[in-house]
Amino acid sequence: MKTVIFNWKMNPSSLDEVNKIIAVIEAESVAVGRSELVILPPSIYINLLQQKQSNIFASLGVQDISDSENGAYTGQLSAEMVSNLGLEYALIGHSETRKYQHYTTQDIANKLTQALKYNLTPILCVGYEENPKANEINIDLIKQELSDIIIPNRELLAKNQILIAYEPIWAIGSGITPSLDSIETVSILIKKTFQDIIPAELESTANILYGGSVNRGNISELKTITSVSGFLIGGASLDTNQIPSLLS
Ligand code: PGA
Repeated sequence: MKTVIFNWKMNPSSLDEVNKIIAVIEAESVAVGRSELVILPPSIYINLLQQKQSNIFASLGVQDISDSENGAYTGQLSAEMVSNLGLEYALIGHSETRKYQHYTTQDIANKLTQALKYNLTPILCVGYEENPKANEINIDLIKQELSDIIIPNRELLAKNQILIAYEPIWAIGSGITPSLDSIETVSILIKKTFQDIIPAELESTANILYGGSVNRGNISELKTITSVSGFLIGGASLDTNQIPSLLS
């Protein structure tokens, strides 16, 4: 069964719309073999989603966490408070947070440390270059970035699960996806790079996700890629017409 992660980004704009989306997810919740669902809402909606959590069978998480423990960091969420609230996942290093918040690779590594320290399952996004071209894979960049982020967190990763999302920037929100072959190649490469860094005796598991323009029209085909364990979905996860197909 694949994991489907709904990244709502800074949407929707009202509780009314959140309730409409929840109603659709709830209607799907009894479907046999439904994908495992994780929702990353804007944190202002987390309370509402937690109230509905037992009806929608979804795990919850946040779209970003601080690289600091606690204190005078206006606007940020600490991994500890996210964990204490009973949330399970933290998205780390999404290209939009890197772009608008100017996070460095070191910041991302520190955020991963925080997530692991407080037992959140990290959803780490990698593979970003400054001027990406469609369908080009920069293998060296992916390897370097993974090493820089994973090596400082080696011990903390022991016996832990991490999700690593391959999201080409040009595929995000564009309606264009890489070929199935290319997604397969990169996902295998990411998994192998992870295994090369983390000794087998640490027993950490890395599952690879794909994200970027996943929608009801392409998800069945994308699901055939066995090296990909799930999907990070933005735009389509807010569309009540598409949600049933994304979850089936
Ligand atoms: P998209 O976004 O599905 O709208 O392309 C994916 C993401 O940015 O996580």
